[in-house]
Amino acid sequence: MSLRDKDRLEKLLRLLTTAAANATLYNLEHLQVLRLNKQAMVELQALFCKNDEINLKMIDNLLIYNNQPVPETPPARRFIDALKRNGINFLRITAGIYNEELLGLINILSKSADRPVAINSSEHLYFGQLEVRRRVQGSLFPGWELQQIAAQEADHLLEIYDAVRAGENLDLTAVHHIVDGFIASFHHQKDAFMAFAPLRSMDEYTYTHSTNICILNIAQAQSLGIEGKLLTDIGLAAMLHDVGKMFVPHDILAKAGQLSETEWHIMQQHPVLGADYLLKTPGVPRLAVVTAYEHHMRYDGTGYPRSEHPWTQHLCSHMTAISDAYDAMRTHRAYDEAMDLDQITTIMLNLAGTKLHPQLTRNFIAMLRRLESPDQPPDTC
Ligand SMILES: [Fe+2]
Ligand SMILES: [Fe+2]
Repeated sequence: MSLRDKDRLEKLLRLLTTAAANATLYNLEHLQVLRLNKQAMVELQALFCKNDEINLKMIDNLLIYNNQPVPETPPARRFIDALKRNGINFLRITAGIYNEELLGLINILSKSADRPVAINSSEHLYFGQLEVRRRVQGSLFPGWELQQIAAQEADHLLEIYDAVRAGENLDLTAVHHIVDGFIASFHHQKDAFMAFAPLRSMDEYTYTHSTNICILNIAQAQSLGIEGKLLTDIGLAAMLHDVGKMFVPHDILAKAGQLSETEWHIMQQHPVLGADYLLKTPGVPRLAVVTAYEHHMRYDGTGYPRSEHPWTQHLCSHMTAISDAYDAMRTHRAYDEAMDLDQITTIMLNLAGTKLHPQLTRNFIAMLRRLESPDQPPDTC
């Protein structure tokens, strides 16, 4: 972080916390609060010159700004305390933020025991709250940042999926944020797949499956040199591939044990239901619709939904099928013991060229081997 940015950030934190103190003392519409909010907007715009997003994370009592520790000044401490009071440990502000949105942040920072405030992310402001109930094994490196994000995003995604199940609109902006967060985390890893290592032991299968597939797909795509919008779309497609399961009765989804023929038939509807839902949702990339539809189709033409005609699957659907197969084998489910890597590699190699795309599967296994190599030094970039 340049000296200039350090000063700007300190000023921004001072302005926000002072505005919050004024809002507590008076109210959010007070002239002084509005003036400070305006000044904070100026500092934010200056910070956006270099990055079009600002990520602030709290790790213990340390504030991290775009992956760099922030000096422990009084404004930084006040800011941390305010976030802590609200159970927030991650904050993302993106370019284009409105005055009103920043005022919303000030409102949250001003919250006290007698002034409860609802915490809602908005278009340019994202709040992450980490629940510590999730057990994540592994050392801090590699992928410590991704651990933090993935744990909170898994919860967040669950909320988004629950809303879909309840008939509400899909919060596409929120899903975008999750994918962008993963891609941003990967920028600091020489090998994106290394970042997945600590996540493999997360065991709440249903919660984390979509985030796992997203990370695995991004890693696959990056290893093939895919960047930019296509990379984001592949991540989004992964995140949404199983959205059709929200329309499958919960007792079938959660059933521990073999499904009956009827139940299996219902379960097999989820690709069509998901694609249909995504097709009707404005703003969803076509690739996500295609992937939701095709992710259970197999390379050799088997799988479902069945097509009357020869069908060429999109590369992203092949990648998702590979990530899906790996995650299902690697994740410990209530009714199925997790397998070790040798078993998984053997099975996947046997499936390469039949159920799974051969070249993509071999590429995936090469990534796995790098991950599991005991000589691989941790990437601390
Ligand atoms: Fe699926
Ligand atoms: Fe899946």
